[in-house]
Amino acid sequence: MFANKKIVLGISGGIAAYKAADIVSWLTKNGAAVHCMLTPNAAEFITPQVLQALSQHPVVVDEFVNGPGWGIVHIDTVQDADLLAIIPATANTIAKIAAGIADNALTSAVLAATCPLFIAPAMNTHMYQNPATQRNIQTLKDRGWHVMPPVSGHLACGAVGEGKLPDVADIEAALQRLLLPKRDLAGLQFLVTAGPTIEPIDPVRYISNKSSGKMGYAIAEAARDRGAQVLLVSGHTNLPRPAGVEYLPVDSAAAMLAACLEAYDGCDVVIKAAAVADYRVAEPAAQKLKKTDDTDEMVLRLVKNPDILAELGRRKTHQLLVGFAAETNNVEEYARQKLAKKHADLLVANDVSRADAGFDVDTNQVTIFTAAGDKLTSPLASKRQTADFILDAVRARLDKQQ
Ligand code: CTP
Repeated sequence: MFANKKIVLGISGGIAAYKAADIVSWLTKNGAAVHCMLTPNAAEFITPQVLQALSQHPVVVDEFVNGPGWGIVHIDTVQDADLLAIIPATANTIAKIAAGIADNALTSAVLAATCPLFIAPAMNTHMYQNPATQRNIQTLKDRGWHVMPPVSGHLACGAVGEGKLPDVADIEAALQRLLLPKRDLAGLQFLVTAGPTIEPIDPVRYISNKSSGKMGYAIAEAARDRGAQVLLVSGHTNLPRPAGVEYLPVDSAAAMLAACLEAYDGCDVVIKAAAVADYRVAEPAAQKLKKTDDTDEMVLRLVKNPDILAELGRRKTHQLLVGFAAETNNVEEYARQKLAKKHADLLVANDVSRADAGFDVDTNQVTIFTAAGDKLTSPLASKRQTADFILDAVRARLDKQQ
């Protein structure tokens, strides 16, 4: 798979350094030439001998130790590389790279590199969330680094929180996307909706739902990486705005509908991952509602919102329409009903009662129902991998139309 690819794998000094061994082994088995560069601290966590044996190439720790030739080690190692990846990246190494410091072989090689750059930060939650670290990571993103954010989980320090290196399989999938980019959606205009809508009660309160937007954002990013032009119409989320994607924030279902209708004619594919509120408050109060002493009840009259997907289904000309169904029971029955009723081409159903596939988790497992009656079930995987699974189904459906 990776024949003729040279990868420089930088490893910095965190507990997760031992996981780099699996990645070196996977890359090497798949034909890549892997050259490991360890910071001196990383060599305290994993021995160069292990990585040397797995990669079958000399491992660089100290740039002043003579290599096989007479060249300058931090230049020679990266100059013809296809990718420089740092896994794991500590707060210290990230800070040095952001500042342009070159005080060891790895940080010097980074300055000399002209290839694509990838980094997977891993550290204690507070260190990761520290504004200094966040600013340094943003600096790297602004310079075009591919940053794979850490996930939440049990950390080596005993805490539970954000900062854990993602699963090796997810890192491998990300590296594969960088080394062998699929451009099978080039030339297509995508409209992706994501996140919840909010429906005001009064100026300070609203009705909404638990959608985090993670699935829709992952789809927008995956479509972008596969060459599509993407418009992301997003309800309120806490997610960073994806780079390289046209971004339109909206509040209510009505605003989302207006944004979708405006873009619809120029779209080839529409993916409606947003969790749209089915009802809105009939008459939102202009001023903050006050609590009264005379009754313990509060009654809100709700009226139905427009169904955006159904409306797009009615107006469909050439667009491929993908709907979602978040269900807690009778998943297949409800999904097939929505597919037919809303004139979608594909319906992505997920069981949100599952702890590993519902709202605001990093993994998902979906079943895609097609208008032709097919049923495709994805493995339990990261939302990014699930996004690629959905886009594979979109690509297959587009190929059938041609
Ligand atoms: N949807 C929409 N506009 C709405 C409600 C839903 O566009 N007012 C879209 C969603 O974006 C999703 C699909 O329709 O792609 C199904 O949404 P879901 O909430 O699962 O179903 P509903 O049709 O709202 O039905 P119910 O809530 O009764 O399950």
